[in-house]
Amino acid sequence: PLVSMNEFLPKAKANKFAVGQFNMNNLEFAQAIVEAAMKEKSPFIYGVSEGALKYMGIEFTVAIAKAAAEKSGLPIALHLDHGSSFDVAMKCIRAGFSSVMFDGSHYTLEENIRLTKEVVKAARAMGVSVEGELGTIGGVEDDISVDEANASLAKPEEAIRFYEETGVDCLAIAVGTAHGMYAGEPNIHFDIIEKVSAAIPVPVVLHGGSGVPDEDIRKAIQAGAGKINVNTENQVACTNAIREVLNKDSKVYDPRKYLTPARNAMVEVVQEKIRLFGSSNQA
Ligand code: G3H
Ligand code: ZN
Repeated sequence: PLVSMNEFLPKAKANKFAVGQFNMNNLEFAQAIVEAAMKEKSPFIYGVSEGALKYMGIEFTVAIAKAAAEKSGLPIALHLDHGSSFDVAMKCIRAGFSSVMFDGSHYTLEENIRLTKEVVKAARAMGVSVEGELGTIGGVEDDISVDEANASLAKPEEAIRFYEETGVDCLAIAVGTAHGMYAGEPNIHFDIIEKVSAAIPVPVVLHGGSGVPDEDIRKAIQAGAGKINVNTENQVACTNAIREVLNKDSKVYDPRKYLTPARNAMVEVVQEKIRLFGSSNQA
């Protein structure tokens, strides 16, 4: 069965590794992610954005994740990514999600705390874990787009207060990463991760994990990042593999001929991330 993030996040925080959230965009993503995790014997999180949910359909999403959990025997959480309302979170929980994120980062701190608390209260009663977010993460992901000027770092005192008042199971804070690939290199504020992580018992979440140099990922984990989200790198690997096949052969028509290399490319990406995050053999 699918599990809450509390099945593995406390251990990640205590032993300084991170569990990957790999976003599910379709069946091939789901298969590639679980195959990589099986090779590495690693727990992981399927992240599903509201856009991906619309694309796949909630029934297919849950059925695919449950099939992956059954086939692999691994601790897998099915997690709503950047949930925008209490209602969406509840809809996902009723459908079988084991974890949800409520992203109230665009509200005032007071309002974000108030709304996140409501989600935590309802989710906890059903054994479902909750991620909150503070500060705004730049870049583009599905319907959420934040330009550089409006991306703002989380303030450690506010993050600590947010945790104390909401009791979330992990906390995403804006520390300088962005959704999508980077033009240059990200300027990650490790001191913010460190300050917040030292003051709360749950891990900090690093969003926008794609394109972050390995050394920065290692430093972020040492500072207290216990969950790291990756989506774009898999999308790029998938599409590049498909493009390569189509460019070479204009007569190919069987989708399996390009989806197989696409899936294999994603297995490689995910396996590398799992090793980098240190979650191998932690299942
Ligand atoms: O919530 C999802 C992640 O933050 C994905 O970010 O596409 O930059 O890897 P990414
Ligand atoms: Zn994100």
